[in-house]
Amino acid sequence: MKRTIKDLAELKGKVVLCRVDFNVPIDDVGRILDATRIMNAIPTINYLSGQGAKVVLMSHLDRPKGYDIRKSLWPIAVLLMNKVKANVTFCNQVVGDEVKSRIAAMENGDVLLLENVRFYQGESECDMNFAKQIASLGQIFVNDAFGVAHRENASNYGVARLLPNAIGFLMEKEINALTSFMEEPKKPFIAVLGGAKVETKINILNKFVEKADTIIIGGAMAYTFLVAQNEDVGTSIVSKNNLDVARNILQKAQMAGKKILLPIDHLCIRDSDKKKKVLTVEQMIDDMKGYDIGPKTIELYSKEILTAGQIFWNGPMGLYEDNRFKKGTLQVARAIAKASGYSLVGGGDTVAAVNSFKLGKNMNYISTGGGATMKFLEEGSLPAIDVIQEKIS
Ligand code: 3PG
Repeated sequence: MKRTIKDLAELKGKVVLCRVDFNVPIDDVGRILDATRIMNAIPTINYLSGQGAKVVLMSHLDRPKGYDIRKSLWPIAVLLMNKVKANVTFCNQVVGDEVKSRIAAMENGDVLLLENVRFYQGESECDMNFAKQIASLGQIFVNDAFGVAHRENASNYGVARLLPNAIGFLMEKEINALTSFMEEPKKPFIAVLGGAKVETKINILNKFVEKADTIIIGGAMAYTFLVAQNEDVGTSIVSKNNLDVARNILQKAQMAGKKILLPIDHLCIRDSDKKKKVLTVEQMIDDMKGYDIGPKTIELYSKEILTAGQIFWNGPMGLYEDNRFKKGTLQVARAIAKASGYSLVGGGDTVAAVNSFKLGKNMNYISTGGGATMKFLEEGSLPAIDVIQEKIS
């Protein structure tokens, strides 16, 4: 068990460096489009501040190459000023004298948000000199950034090696939810996987062949599996390099007596059709290209989902951003929302889809991670969690 912020004695007056994941969508005029990750970090911020710590927050935003005003954390500071009980200010740097003097001027309980840590090259490289400069700003390090815990970066991994440390409430919640989901699964355990790229899902598919009872596959990656079973998918996106991988997964599932469900009908468009009329077909041929699962598949998948003891969902069933191909993802989301089995949803796209359908409240657990959630389910931990001290019992 990792040490949590509740295990930290006497925080009053201490400078606590707290890594959060504020990597949220922000539009061109600085409006935050989805504040879920920020809201999820607030209990930790309020606790540390309430204990009288001087709370210095660090986060990345997107993947900037050097300084980029459009990737500044300033809009997030403005939101925090309204949402956090304490006095919140912003500093447009991460290390150096200016930051030091801003911290020196903080009162107990104050919160200071530093600028995007990825403006500094040393962050992603986990340069220990950069980590040392960060560590010199405070006395304690708290990691509440689950979403980036699969990365060994300076501000989440490097700093943890240099200071006494602990995890925050969000990190603790994610670890507990994902661990019990994989270690004490409620049967039958159904995994619903979609999205375009098979290559990004190979490890999790192998894990689910081992742990789940049924795997439901949708999205463009389903076409690779269909071709692996010698079906015709017209001109649909197929990852030819991964056909053997798909065959291997199908074979392993069969040997382990696990069920894999693939689409039995599709919504598609003919490349040659100038009007781009949507067709519903059982098999795609010639120049037909699939964009969503069809009505029979929706029925098949929904029925199966309703039998689940627990459900994991990652990846849309089709090109849901286009209204013509939204139905597969929407109906699967509805089935998961309606099912009595425990539902856990992970991944940026999937969570965005669930929220756009206003079904977030009907899911039992929505993880704040994308890649981090998948990797945690595969491996049971993550590097930036491993580096945190164990609880002393
Ligand atoms: C995420 O959004 O998944 C995390 O914030 C990590 O971001 P990254 O993939 O750019 O490291």
